[in-house]
Amino acid sequence: MIRSRLPLFTALVSSALALAACGEDPLFGPPTESVCPPDSTLTYENFGQPFMEDYCTRCHSSELTGADRNGAPSFHDFDTVFGIRAVSEHIDETTASGPAATNDSMPPDGDTPSLEERQQLGEWIACDMPTDADLAAAR
Ligand code: HEC
Repeated sequence: MIRSRLPLFTALVSSALALAACGEDPLFGPPTESVCPPDSTLTYENFGQPFMEDYCTRCHSSELTGADRNGAPSFHDFDTVFGIRAVSEHIDETTASGPAATNDSMPPDGDTPSLEERQQLGEWIACDMPTDADLAAAR
């Protein structure tokens, strides 16, 4: 009896610890409610790509596997605009700043973006993450 229940008990204790860890420093904040100004000039090439290269792709890159990801989850790869667009809500809720919230759980260590850069990230996401070509086509 005791023997058979031990694995369940261990599982419960470890999930309780995982929940406690989340409670202390939540990964996701609220949506920033950022808006896209009609004259926004931010593109993947002039903002999104350098932002991700400065702060994110040393963990979140399709070129990294296993321990080299430093724990960054699969399918959260920000070395292409497609990878960013796929999880943009989660990027907003961890990294961007806007009228409703400033979210700063990412990056977890190292160089961190300035408040202005986090606001630009919110804006670029709110504008649907255009590339140079998208912006040129829209004009
Ligand atoms: C040092 C490595 C590292 C860097 C740099 C980093 N992350 Fe992360 N990221 C992680 C880890 C580890 C997790 C998983 C955290 C967890 O589950 O508690 C994560 C989780 C995330 C998630 C949530 C994924 C999910 O579960 O849905 C998002 C979104 C994210 N990161 C975005 C970013 C962005 C944007 C940047 C750059 C500003 C960034 N990260 C920089 C390691 C990193």
